[in-house]
Amino acid sequence: MQGLFITFEGGEGAGKSTQIARLAEYLRGQGDDVLVTREPGGSPGAEAVRHVILSGAAEPFGPAMEALLFAAARNDHVEQVMRKALKSGRMVLCDRYIDSSRVYQGVTGELDPALMRAIERAAINGLMPDLTIILDLPAEIGLQRANARRGAGTADRFEKETIELHHKRRDAYLAIAAEEPERCKVIAADRPAGEIAREIAALVDQLKTSRGIKPKQAVEVTK
Ligand code: TYD
Repeated sequence: MQGLFITFEGGEGAGKSTQIARLAEYLRGQGDDVLVTREPGGSPGAEAVRHVILSGAAEPFGPAMEALLFAAARNDHVEQVMRKALKSGRMVLCDRYIDSSRVYQGVTGELDPALMRAIERAAINGLMPDLTIILDLPAEIGLQRANARRGAGTADRFEKETIELHHKRRDAYLAIAAEEPERCKVIAADRPAGEIAREIAALVDQLKTSRGIKPKQAVEVTK
């Protein structure tokens, strides 16, 4: 009994949390046991590292230091939480995973691709997503949405960067999807949330069918 591992990726303001919540609700409605989690974070060790990274405390030490911190957080999350959840048949929906590191640290952090591959391998130890949903949005719209959501709050370390970086990241996500079309599905995110949610649900239904996962029966509780 192995669950499905689904990751959500995309730039700021692409609507990842909304779509994760909707897919979780959809799957729970089918009787699935769903774990919603996020990176950096998702386990006590990784949440501690999250604070160090997003506060900007590691920024002066360069992108390699940040990439290793993301990887350390990821490894803890994988080994302490996600692998066990999947083994027990849960559906794991994760907000950001390896592709965020490939894009933010690898491409826009300009780190050596060989170093990035080695770090990724060590961090995940084989735990690749079954499906990665890339919510694709023009950088300007994503930034507007993220700013509106933040209101008067302060931007985190990665939100403060320039529009060119956001464009580069979008292209980098699309390049990953072109390289791994089986795993990565690009969804145009500049549309009504309900429409996007239905498209994602259909992809997950297809994946379940291809893995031979049958819809669960509603459990009757008798006394
Ligand atoms: P978060 O507040 O979770 O933002 P979002 O809602 O955009 O997901 O912050 C996570 C930030 O960390 C985000 O800007 C992307 C960045 N990040 C990386 O640079 N590398 C990574 O491997 C991960 C997981 C996140």
